[in-house]
Amino acid sequence: MTTLTEAPVYWDPYKPDFWMNPYPVFRRLREEAPLYRNEEHAFYAVSRFSDVERGLTDTATFSSSRGDVLEYIKANMDIPSGMFIWEDPPLHTAHRSVLTRVFTPRRMNDLEEKIRAYCARCLDPLVGAGRIDLVADFGAEMPMRVISALLGIPEQDQEAVRERVDASLRTEAGKPMDVSQASYKGAGFEEYVDWRAKNPSDDLMTELLRAEFVDETGTKRRLTREEILCFVNVLAGAGIETTTRLIGWTGKVLGDHPEQRAELAANPGLIPNAIEELLRYEPPGPSVARYVARDVEIHGQTVPAGSAMLMLVASANRDDRRYPDGEHFDIHRKGPPHITFGRGIHACLGSALARVEGRVALDEILKRFPTWTVDLDKAKLSSTSTVRGWDNMPVFTGGNGQQGAKAKVTGGTPQAGADLDGASAAVGTETWELTLQTPMGPQVMTAQILREGDAFKGTMSGEMGVEHIDGKISGNALSWTLSLKKPVSIKLSFDAKVAGNTMTGNVKLGMFGKAALSGKRI
Ligand code: HEM
Repeated sequence: MTTLTEAPVYWDPYKPDFWMNPYPVFRRLREEAPLYRNEEHAFYAVSRFSDVERGLTDTATFSSSRGDVLEYIKANMDIPSGMFIWEDPPLHTAHRSVLTRVFTPRRMNDLEEKIRAYCARCLDPLVGAGRIDLVADFGAEMPMRVISALLGIPEQDQEAVRERVDASLRTEAGKPMDVSQASYKGAGFEEYVDWRAKNPSDDLMTELLRAEFVDETGTKRRLTREEILCFVNVLAGAGIETTTRLIGWTGKVLGDHPEQRAELAANPGLIPNAIEELLRYEPPGPSVARYVARDVEIHGQTVPAGSAMLMLVASANRDDRRYPDGEHFDIHRKGPPHITFGRGIHACLGSALARVEGRVALDEILKRFPTWTVDLDKAKLSSTSTVRGWDNMPVFTGGNGQQGAKAKVTGGTPQAGADLDGASAAVGTETWELTLQTPMGPQVMTAQILREGDAFKGTMSGEMGVEHIDGKISGNALSWTLSLKKPVSIKLSFDAKVAGNTMTGNVKLGMFGKAALSGKRI
């Protein structure tokens, strides 16, 4: 509530000190100005969960066709075909359909071994160093290698990819991003795309070159060179910087909550839920912008067509109306999923990949460094209009953590579930990555279960958030049910058989029939 002494809430997204801790201002925006207007920079903003969710799903009113970054929307520039994150239907639908075919959750999850190897490559040399930088030494490296491997970019060119992405997103502190036509022309990958066209392989780039789709005019065709260049830029831009920031926030937030970090080190089965909570609590992309295509009434005021609207994702994620005690960080939090990956037709295509990367990164960090203290004086918050996170996250690694880590990393990459001071072995939680082949396409979920005689309990997490499960065990057979409320109210009945580290079976999807189930222990 505004008090007599308090000035009306003011928010300037270009003020660096604001981004240090935007949450008190976001809280005031939600309470005092749920539709906020900033005259100086000419934009509107919504901050409550319900308004952000509505804005992201109402694409007829809130258009992506001029970009999803404030500066681009205001610059009103031509957007090249293939920049699908900045397109509306039907063009967006046609372009996205190509990517959903090649960018499947299964393909993302199949990358897990590679991701673990990249983590080991970065982290092993740091064991014993005493002070490490979780972003510069690790977070900036791994996501870039993963996207590059996915696209098939040769190792020697990968560093240049990250530099190009970084440069295109960077802003000068206190100023809007400098947008120029050249900065989103898909520049940078021409040589590589042309080379790959002549040297096909089994990577995503080759699939993009070969893919046929029906475009917005109903014509069946392949992607043009310009479209492919844009696709690759979107993937590199969306998939590198964001995940790097997630790793920085993991270091910061768990550094601020050592008791919760100790729980994670002792029980890695809690990690997937902790990643969801980290994504909610500190979303790497704190806002998404839209062009207002037609007059719309919000909280009793008319926002005119032609305006720029910011959807404050980071504020929505802490709205008490949706998340009880939303300002509180709790790795055990249950309830509705965050809105960090967006909603609706533009919802993040890489969310499965970001989740695997975040989960594996934290697991591998904790195996080597179960304790750390953030060197906040030397930590540097990065300044971009689109992404909020740390360029540097230096930490002092704790004494017993290093000793425990040294013992485990001897002789190569530590195994998942490796004993950490004896603690994780005692807990006995199993983590399974499950894929359901549903009529809507493959759905990936993570199940954590704890066996107790002929029964088990645990959680399942995925796009639907985190849900509790209770199940029965008969020999190597497991059965359980999962009740979902969204997107439709449905009860899923799982029947599975375990053989070593794999699981196969089927799932009854209420009135929607059956889906094949496969899974692997992680
Ligand atoms: C923690 C990491 C990530 C966060 C917070 C994040 C967030 C988001 C958000 C909020 C959107 C929606 C943008 C809008 O509505 O305008 C989005 C879209 C997208 N993301 Fe992510 N993302 C992450 C990681 C990734 C990764 C690893 C990839 C893989 C390449 C990726 C690829 C994409 C793509 C291709 C889109 C555009 C989808 C469309 O327009 O249809 N993202 N992401």
